[in-house]
Amino acid sequence: MIKILISTLLIYMVSSLPATVLRAAPATPGTISGNADKGEALYYNHGCYACHGYNGIGKHNIANDVSGIMMSEAVYLIFLRARSELNPPLPTQRMPHYSKTSLPDHEALDIYAHIRTFKDTPPEAESNATMQAIINSAQSQAPQ
Ligand code: HEC
Repeated sequence: MIKILISTLLIYMVSSLPATVLRAAPATPGTISGNADKGEALYYNHGCYACHGYNGIGKHNIANDVSGIMMSEAVYLIFLRARSELNPPLPTQRMPHYSKTSLPDHEALDIYAHIRTFKDTPPEAESNATMQAIINSAQSQAPQ
């Protein structure tokens, strides 16, 4: 009971922070105890990629350590579990429930390790001839 109350409080505190505060949270990512290779398969099998993309860039970005929730294994687990165990206190229902029965802790932590490998490093426009041609064309047509 106490555990559930603490979880609820923590989730409430995290979820009520504006996105900008979470993004600006001290970027000192915590321990990674899972196996990222196993996590890669689990990330696909549990459908995370459908919303978070193959590399964390999707409808909801979780690459480049931008997520305050991803800064700690403990907070991440509470985030996943709160949805199913606490009749979710989070403001939206867009992310599905992941209970311990469908996604045990050790598998969830493997996924965590995989997500923490996500780095979004798009190439510079100058290194892509087509992109550069589009930029040149747009600049040449821009009003002076
Ligand atoms: C149907 C779409 C969907 C699926 C599938 C999904 N998510 Fe999410 N996820 C979201 C949305 C939307 C949010 C933003 C919070 C919310 O609205 O619930 C989110 C938020 C998150 C966050 C917090 C990011 C932040 O903003 O700090 C993490 C971590 C996360 N998801 C991990 C996962 C993992 C791991 C899986 C697979 C086991 C998964 N998600 C599957 C839609 C999804």
